[in-house]
Amino acid sequence: MVKTTARPTPRSRATTGLFLAGTDTNVGKTVATAALGIALRRTGVNVGVMKPVETGTPQNGMVSVSDAYRLRELLTPHANMALLNPYRFPAPVAPAEAARLSHTRIELTAILEAYQTLAGHHESMLVEGVGGVLVPLTHTEDVCRLIKLLELPCLVVSRTSLGAINHTRLTLMGLRQADIPIAGVLLNHTSADASRDAQLQTESTVAWIRRLSGVPVFGPLPFQADMARHWEASINVLAGDVTMRDVVTMVRESG
Ligand SMILES: Nc1ncnc2c1ncn2[C@@H]1O[C@H](COP(=O)(O)OP(=O)(O)OP(=O)(O)O)[C@@H](O)[C@H]1O
Ligand SMILES: [Mg+2]
Repeated sequence: MVKTTARPTPRSRATTGLFLAGTDTNVGKTVATAALGIALRRTGVNVGVMKPVETGTPQNGMVSVSDAYRLRELLTPHANMALLNPYRFPAPVAPAEAARLSHTRIELTAILEAYQTLAGHHESMLVEGVGGVLVPLTHTEDVCRLIKLLELPCLVVSRTSLGAINHTRLTLMGLRQADIPIAGVLLNHTSADASRDAQLQTESTVAWIRRLSGVPVFGPLPFQADMARHWEASINVLAGDVTMRDVVTMVRESG
């Protein structure tokens, strides 16, 4: 968050929106973005979606498991991919490094322009982050810097398993330090482990995150055992979960 990037003139129409940041990679940002998008659409909201940077993009025609393609197919099938996902890199490493390996660099102003163009066509915009909030996008800019540039409140997606209290608090601390408005924490149950210890860990993790966060805590979204085989059906189930009703209310009231 060091560099100040020149801003083009805003032209967006979207009156509500969220940046869905993760406490880590693989916490369920895509799942949460997709389920929230469907839930908002069910209430009549015209939702736009963006995955500004994706790394480790699937090769050999496996685009169906790419975050950006999944989100587009589910929420905005006619969206221009260059706007929805301006940067995609094959290397499964942090974005700044993945860009370097592709002999290019990520321009935050290009992301902002794409965002504003999409926002001109939708009432509400959902932007999925990449990794955690301090992940480097360039040598001098990180995900926090991007969130600030887009001027979106942040919804932190976090796990419910052991370690999540620390990850969640560190993420909230980073966002507060960057003066980014925090819409809340969305907890997501990503593990199939139903052992007694796992249940105890989940219950206590959720309780402590609620106690210590100082922001609204939503969820946890329930674990969907069929997610790997039936992604879209599982997303539809999560979109109907009571958790999403609360998140939708929060988004609609923020407009
Ligand atoms: N509620 C859930 N129930 C079952 N599986 C889930 C759930 N949420 C996430 N998963 C699974 O966990 C994995 C990570 O989810 P997802 O891809 O949404 O994470 P992410 O934070 O977007 O990851 P990335 O950092 O790669 O963008 C996926 O395989 C997904 O299917
Ligand atoms: Mg993702």
